[in-house]
Amino acid sequence: MEDYSTILVETHQRVGLIRLNRPEALNALNATILKELNTALQSFDGDEGIGAMVITGDERAFAAGADIKEMADSSAVEMLQRDNISAFDRIMEITKPIIAAVSGWCLGGGNELAMSCDMIIASESAKFGQPEINLGVIPGAGGTQRLTRAVGKAVAMEMVLNNRTLPAREALEHGLVNRVVPVETYLEEALKLAREIADRAPLAVRFGKAAVNRAFESALRDGLAEERSAFYFLFSSQDQKEGMQAFVEKRKPTWQGK
Ligand code: HXC
Repeated sequence: MEDYSTILVETHQRVGLIRLNRPEALNALNATILKELNTALQSFDGDEGIGAMVITGDERAFAAGADIKEMADSSAVEMLQRDNISAFDRIMEITKPIIAAVSGWCLGGGNELAMSCDMIIASESAKFGQPEINLGVIPGAGGTQRLTRAVGKAVAMEMVLNNRTLPAREALEHGLVNRVVPVETYLEEALKLAREIADRAPLAVRFGKAAVNRAFESALRDGLAEERSAFYFLFSSQDQKEGMQAFVEKRKPTWQGK
């Protein structure tokens, strides 16, 4: 396993767990942590023994945003050359499901990271926001786009223009997170969900993730076409034969990922 300085990496059965580990800076996302996060995600994505991933921080913060101290004196050209934001594009290329387990502060780039995941499990103490307006900028890694698709224009406008922060319950009400659970169990709940998904038919999970995410990027007709192609394609897999045969024979299927 790689030697990381800003993240901790573990496996829990078929789940890869990545812990953001800069507690002294509330897990602020600097160039190193984003690079290491990408490396770990890609490594899990290529590992046949892993079926899903969880990204978490600690109880106090998932991540309090991009690292302001790293950016403060940068010129536009330096920001472009450093291009930390491309790390978020690479997360979109990960084929296996990623669950964000969020407690405490989930702000700015931290919220954009959580929204780049496929699902969010929040602890009761989680707080979601896009406070970039306080710094004289706007979100740069999807905070105006993914957030608006998730919570709608009204709430997104307040968050982006006036630093409205959503406590966990409100985030749930507005569709930003999947569920809210006690602080003591948020990571275990996320790992449990990830383990359940990791034990399902791998090809179907892969195409299901891609098809749902496509709904955010395409016209309905194009999304439906992609869904249909994937649906028909899965009939070329052994897992489809096994899954349907197991149903007929009233037994549990055994998945091969083939
Ligand atoms: C760098 C950060 C940081 C950040 C916190 N810290 N957030 N360092 N970048 N985003 C550091 C503090 O400087 C401090 O370091 C330590 O973490 C603890 O933070 P405190 O402020 O002392 O904690 P607290 O009083 O509890 O306040 C928590 C907080 C506050 C409300 C979350 O830290 C805060 O407002 N942080 C900034 C949030 C933000 O603006 N995020 C958006 C960033 S821009 P020291 O050394 O003093 O102990 C962004 C753009 C994304 O994300 C673009 C795409 C990548």
